[in-house]
Amino acid sequence: MKWNAKQYEQQFQFVPSYGEELLGLLTVKPGSRVIDLGCGNGALTGKLAEAGYDVTGVDASPEMLALARKNHPRISFILADAASYRPDHPADAVFSNAMMHWVPKARQDTLLQNVAASLRTGGEFVFEMGGRGNNALIHGTLGDLFRERGLEYRMPFYFPSIGEYTPMLERAGMAADFSAQFRRPTPRKSEHAIVDWILMFDREPFGGLPEEEIRSIAAEAEKRLKDRLFQDGVWYLDYVRLRMKARRRPDP
Ligand code: BEZ
Repeated sequence: MKWNAKQYEQQFQFVPSYGEELLGLLTVKPGSRVIDLGCGNGALTGKLAEAGYDVTGVDASPEMLALARKNHPRISFILADAASYRPDHPADAVFSNAMMHWVPKARQDTLLQNVAASLRTGGEFVFEMGGRGNNALIHGTLGDLFRERGLEYRMPFYFPSIGEYTPMLERAGMAADFSAQFRRPTPRKSEHAIVDWILMFDREPFGGLPEEEIRSIAAEAEKRLKDRLFQDGVWYLDYVRLRMKARRRPDP
């Protein structure tokens, strides 16, 4: 996907801001080698560096990496597909915020195998992604609108539950030692928060539809969601988070 990195930074900085809490799950010592997988504009890579880690950011978007390099010229960033990335030398920790739901379900085992191969034995994998039911009202409403137009809405993200993801981590050679799944209604001040969100993150299901029609469906979705997601002048995106920490087990 081609990102509008500037607009992301202006309107969606809340994504890395919320991710700051996740940093607290890392227990490796300052100086440890950490990979920020799916680092985007490098906001959290910068925080990891400030915490004293020897961090490398990895992202598949040249637009996002250009911003990351501009914002953090002293940090090393690598342009690579997160699901297939493996470093030359294993790291002490892999950290990932709000990226893994972009990897299709069929590639999740590959992603996790590569994460495990990127870690030394005992190394930590700390991540947060959309959990089961994430943005269900938004996707359900878009599904209705597509159906009414004779179109099929294919939700492009993978949002697993703890129960589904834990055995996947285990199959890849990691053992979960912290898991939490929770609702996080996410306030947005923008007058058109749902339209903004759809146009930034959820264009794939619209395929080659004309821009005018995409905007009209997004506006209709916003209208239909108002009674459930708009309160006292503020939009609340219906986010659900899956937050976990796992360790790489010794090879059998
Ligand atoms: C999320 O962080 O849950 C998310 C963000 C953009 C698109 C889909 C999910």
